[in-house]
Amino acid sequence: KNIALVAGGYSGEYVISVQSAAVIEKNIDSSKYNVYKISVTRDGWNYIGADGQAVAVDRNDFTLTINGSKIKFDAVFIGIHGTPGEDGRLQGYFEMLGIPFTSCGMVTSALTFNKSYCNKVVASLGVVNVSKSVHIFRDQPFDTKEILRELKLPVFVKPAEGGSSIGMSKVNTAEELEPAIEKAFKEDVQILIEEFIKGREMTCGLYKSNGELTVLPVTEIISSKEFFDYEAKYTPGVTREVTPAEAPAEVTNLIQETAKKLYNKLNCRGIVRMDFIWEEANNRLFFLEVNTMPGQSENSLVPQQVRAAGKTLQEFYGTLIEECLR
Ligand code: DAL
Ligand code: MG
Repeated sequence: KNIALVAGGYSGEYVISVQSAAVIEKNIDSSKYNVYKISVTRDGWNYIGADGQAVAVDRNDFTLTINGSKIKFDAVFIGIHGTPGEDGRLQGYFEMLGIPFTSCGMVTSALTFNKSYCNKVVASLGVVNVSKSVHIFRDQPFDTKEILRELKLPVFVKPAEGGSSIGMSKVNTAEELEPAIEKAFKEDVQILIEEFIKGREMTCGLYKSNGELTVLPVTEIISSKEFFDYEAKYTPGVTREVTPAEAPAEVTNLIQETAKKLYNKLNCRGIVRMDFIWEEANNRLFFLEVNTMPGQSENSLVPQQVRAAGKTLQEFYGTLIEECLR
């Protein structure tokens, strides 16, 4: 089968996307699948052949013509974080072309990619606590005093549609709010300001295998930095990630059960990682976010969870491909 692995993307997560795609490419069973890695950037959508020559994709039907013969793809493995691989854009394109792909569909990807809209929908499902937040737009007036009346400090300021904590700040004092908002508006036209929940950060990946929802072990993220920022995410040693998490079984069960409910209610497909904060003091679980294209780099969480579950990445990526072809 011909599989296109799309890599790169248009966002600040480009570098991480390239790392994820490298791990995916290395671990796809090449005796079963012919993998064509296609770099999707603002400069073009290209397959780099063995001779180093770039072959542009025909965007009318997502095919490649190599040495006069046309290559069609049986499926696309989406390996791009951020836009256009995680926010529904490529998903909508492949849905229009009728080419199966490994991630959630267009609507789920777009909804969950926007942290603010996703929070509102998740809160309405009533399966997990959602922290209080305010959603503001660059081209609409907002009042920081009003925001500070609505939300208790500390707060997180996040670009609404971002990833890997780029443009994100933790705000401890009123004076820090405005600069944090300015920083986030450099990344996005809309931002989410959210009350900080003091607790332990827990995350788990889940995916379907033969139509059955499979939950990976829970990981606890213990960051030595103030929060799990870009550096903490990708610099080995800055963060301790414990898989399976050393938390009471009823807590890890609750996290896995909540993740399953959200996966189903949000109509997810493929590998999705759900992030939570467990507020240990009051034993309450808070939702943080859904990642529909969770990192697959050597330092990322899902590959750790797959290994902890006793599976190889080759089996895992094979399952994701077979599942989207079902
Ligand atoms: N956005 C990064 C890649 C993650 O969620 O793992
Ligand atoms: Mg994320």
